[in-house]
Amino acid sequence: MNPSLLTREALAQFAAESRGAFEAELKTLVEIPSISADPARQGDVRRCAEAARSLFERHGGKAEILETSGNPLIHGWFGEDPSQPTITVYNHMDVQPANEPEWLVDPFTFVVDGDTYKGRGSTDDKGPAVTALFGALAARRAGVPLNIHFLWELEEEIGSPSFEGGLNRHKDRLRTDAIVVSDTVWITRGKPSTPAGLRGLKGFRLTLETADHDLHSGVVGGAARNPLAELIKVVSEMMDGETGKVKIPGFYDDVVKPSKQELEEWERSGFSVATFKKDHMITGMRTEDPLKVMKRVWGRPTMEVHGVVGGYTGPGIKSAVPPRAEVKLSCRLVPDMDEHKTIGLIRAFVKERFPDVQFHEEHGLAPFKGHVTGPYAQAIKDAYQFAFNAPCCFTREGGSIGAVKTMEDILGCQVFFLGLSLPSHGYHAPNENYDWEQASGGMAAFAHYFEAVSGFKP
Ligand code: BES
Ligand code: MN
Ligand code: MN
Repeated sequence: MNPSLLTREALAQFAAESRGAFEAELKTLVEIPSISADPARQGDVRRCAEAARSLFERHGGKAEILETSGNPLIHGWFGEDPSQPTITVYNHMDVQPANEPEWLVDPFTFVVDGDTYKGRGSTDDKGPAVTALFGALAARRAGVPLNIHFLWELEEEIGSPSFEGGLNRHKDRLRTDAIVVSDTVWITRGKPSTPAGLRGLKGFRLTLETADHDLHSGVVGGAARNPLAELIKVVSEMMDGETGKVKIPGFYDDVVKPSKQELEEWERSGFSVATFKKDHMITGMRTEDPLKVMKRVWGRPTMEVHGVVGGYTGPGIKSAVPPRAEVKLSCRLVPDMDEHKTIGLIRAFVKERFPDVQFHEEHGLAPFKGHVTGPYAQAIKDAYQFAFNAPCCFTREGGSIGAVKTMEDILGCQVFFLGLSLPSHGYHAPNENYDWEQASGGMAAFAHYFEAVSGFKP
């Protein structure tokens, strides 16, 4: 190993020299619209897997596309020396749809605007993936004695339906000492954080049909049932739309409160409501109290209404009684809630009070409790301090990554998080972006992490 290639200065120079290659690789990936939710994009998903494989090969690694019952996985690796420890970096290569009208650039044309990179998937999660790869190249160049493996998924944004099966099928080749996931956000620029847990997610839909077609509200209104109004009532009995409080008995029973130590760490994290609002461009909040905001996003479950379908939506009013309606909802879950128990409570509540409302379950992901102690966790903090000259706090993440718990269960090792995205990068939002400050620092952070981990006894 040549430690002089792993100093902060040497790694900054490595990043500067790699910038052209980094941007070219990220451009190739961002310009493939690998939208897992859109069946019409299946060909692009496959093309993305192939582009990822050749990306590893171009940089001296090996790679294979691993088939699952759904979208494939990509396994890329540098080194397979059984006498050295192995670390695996997880990212996802699929992206959200990008049909929001507010896009100022074409979402699938990679735009370099000074230090900013624009395009769907630039920060979630292609930019961090390519950053980690260049971090590995820096570590390998310095001769860090570590097998560095990559596992890239193409179904994360639809709840990882084939991931468990795929991992079981390929688990022998994916043996690893620990996993590091780069798919989470910081508090804000300059304030790194790493999650001590992720929320889970359970989606569901309610539908109701009370007639065959639109009816004249002057002819039948008053006597005929209105399915749209009834579903609005169901929602308002399940939750308070103003406060967000869920009214279903037992919903909060298994919620574990954040510990005193955890709350102290959250207070130290540098979280600010003003910055949060600015980064996300939010105009209205349910509370302006910082601790309450952190608790609500990181430590409490939610019920959210995502969409209401039904009735006339054209200009003006059509005074009809609609025949049918649908509401789309989901709950974010926290430890120790169980997705099956929670959906059971909701289903029973709806069935008892509104027996003819149809209840449809969507995908579910369990909440995840992470690890904040031990050498791998400490190495995450050290990597951020080294690369960004800023302390990193253990907070939690309000979002969900289905693969995390599955990897721990099937590969039998611990998962840590070295995220590089910022709230202002706009996960899932129009004008999603990533930037060179996060990428160049991220390469150094990963290289430093790999160096540290190479010294751990498996
Ligand atoms: N990278 C996110 C997870 C995330 C979100 C981490 C917010 C930190 C903060 C991931 O790509 C994602 O968007 N997950 C989805 C999963 C769902 C579509 C099944 C989510 O959380 O909604
Ligand atoms: Mn992501
Ligand atoms: Mn996402």
